[in-house]
Amino acid sequence: MSVSFRSERPNRLSPEAHRSLTEAAQRDPERYWLDEAARLSWVNAPTRAIDSEHGWFADGTLNASVNCLDRHLETRGEQVALIWQAEDASHVVHMTYRDLHAQVCRMANVLKAQGVGRGDRVAIHLPSVIEGIVSMLACARLGAIHVVLFGGFSAEAIADRLADSGAIVVITANVGRRGPKRIPFKATMDAALALRPDSLKVTRVFVVSVTDDQVPMQEDRDSFLSGLMDASSTECAAETMASNDPLFLLYTSGSTGKPKGVVHGTGGYLSWASYTHEIVFDHQENDVFWCTADIGWITGHSYVVYGPLSNGATILLFEGMPSSPAPGRWWEVLQTHKVTTFYTSPTAIRALMREGDDIPARYDLSTLRVLGTVGEPINHEAWAWFNDVIGQKRCALVDTWWQTESGGILISPVPGAVLEKPSSATLPLPGIQPVLLDEKGAPLEGPAEGVLCIDGAWPGRALTIWNDDALFQTTYLKPYPGHYFTGDGARRDEDGYYWITGRVDDVINVSGHRIGSAEIEDALSCEHAIAESAAIGIPHDLKGQGLVVYVVANETADPDVQKLAVSVIASKVGRYAVPEKVYVVPDLPKTRSGKTVRRLLRKIACGETNGFGDLSTLADPEIVPVLIKIVQGHG
Ligand code: WTA
Repeated sequence: MSVSFRSERPNRLSPEAHRSLTEAAQRDPERYWLDEAARLSWVNAPTRAIDSEHGWFADGTLNASVNCLDRHLETRGEQVALIWQAEDASHVVHMTYRDLHAQVCRMANVLKAQGVGRGDRVAIHLPSVIEGIVSMLACARLGAIHVVLFGGFSAEAIADRLADSGAIVVITANVGRRGPKRIPFKATMDAALALRPDSLKVTRVFVVSVTDDQVPMQEDRDSFLSGLMDASSTECAAETMASNDPLFLLYTSGSTGKPKGVVHGTGGYLSWASYTHEIVFDHQENDVFWCTADIGWITGHSYVVYGPLSNGATILLFEGMPSSPAPGRWWEVLQTHKVTTFYTSPTAIRALMREGDDIPARYDLSTLRVLGTVGEPINHEAWAWFNDVIGQKRCALVDTWWQTESGGILISPVPGAVLEKPSSATLPLPGIQPVLLDEKGAPLEGPAEGVLCIDGAWPGRALTIWNDDALFQTTYLKPYPGHYFTGDGARRDEDGYYWITGRVDDVINVSGHRIGSAEIEDALSCEHAIAESAAIGIPHDLKGQGLVVYVVANETADPDVQKLAVSVIASKVGRYAVPEKVYVVPDLPKTRSGKTVRRLLRKIACGETNGFGDLSTLADPEIVPVLIKIVQGHG
């Protein structure tokens, strides 16, 4: 099924324009990207686009915060840049571009007084408050590299990332709000900082007071931010950065247990965030853009902050949850702030869909024009509900496929230019060349299914992995020489449309959160009571995938290994990675060479009891019925 074009607007990309841009990018990529770079304000405009040795726009210089703020002051200084909706419905802050610029300068001056400068790493660990965005842009202003840490990380996970990044300053909050609950940001950070002080370089902790809750402050290290900001100047000169100077590090999960700090540059990344925000969301003057992602994830970086602000949009930041204090809260926020563009996750849509159609029907959603999803495949039912009930069949719906490493969207419908097919990410954006490869790495033509790689270069691609360029090469560039390996599989149909089939590596996608099998298994391996473990993903109605862990207990183990496994994962990784099920088993199915056969573990966890194929390659085929019995016994 394809869906016809809706909400036509005159200055949208037409199908012909999309095609001709795609052709232009193919014909002369150097020229195409150099032209696109002109969407940014440069101190020195680049004269080259692609340089495999020196990176994107290598001789260009610029500052990302100037691009998101200063350059708008003359034309849209009084336009609202940011609407902050607190959890409390009556608490709303409207900040103009001028206000936001002033706050960013104040924060930059606070950091500067602390000695933060070019290339220093600053960790940002905050709930959905304005200071998160302000901190990111303040770092960018000084040429410091921000490292945003997701609020759901445990103290151990934070300590690992502080150590790896070498952050010297941390910005956190006393607490975060979640309905009546308080999330202990500062206490978690204190615990992280106390874990292995010898490997950390943090000398200063700035604390945002989200509420009046008191938290312990360490006198020589911790300060509240607001007083310092109030006392600082609203002007701060921006550092001129080289295009390939890192703008930020962002940790994500891959096939190794170690945290992987994906490094994004300044000019390439920012031009990509700006380009994709404009064309995929059909950005128009007076739009109110709401991306529900936390700034702790790449979606928050590219589509809460850098994409929309570089394009002079008005963004909405919401502190609360979709259905708190009552179902309908998100729709009420949409209505109140007249949101035009709404970007969220399939998991959220599935949860909201369960509340029934009568909830959104109570609100006026007529300002909506473009809807988007990201992070995981969207099933037909959720797509149709989002399209029919929320979009009322008159909005464009963009299913956007991309990854932390890609900096921004790579495959997506473009409103007005690419016909949607429900649950398909559709076509590559102009300038992106996906290819499908077979197991041996040979490119597949026409309709086919295979491993999804990207050929050629695009400006948003990550520069490297922090402290580990070899890992960058082995993860993305070496598996299929000459192609960039995405880690995903995909199918291409007769119209050339892409249908993402999910990860082909050991990354599990739970509610759009990437969790590496190795990350879970490494955490469990530190525990004496656990001899071995295997983490796998199985289909889950709400979360897309659910995490299941098999553990082999040591003989002398504590009887409650199940509980132990859950608490180890919560404390070493974070509560978001707590598995659906933990099965304590006598052994794992292994090949004779000792490799765990995950395929079997997945099938058994899905409740299958036969059809496992040839088991003769297993070291001990007898383990299979034993595992089935344990899983079935759990009900
Ligand atoms: C998955 C999030 C299907 C995919 C931006 C990818 C998707 C991983 C989609 C990246 C989509 C993201 N359809 N799968 N529209 N978008 N994914 O790094 O497996 O948190 O590799 O970036 O999410 O997750 P990440």
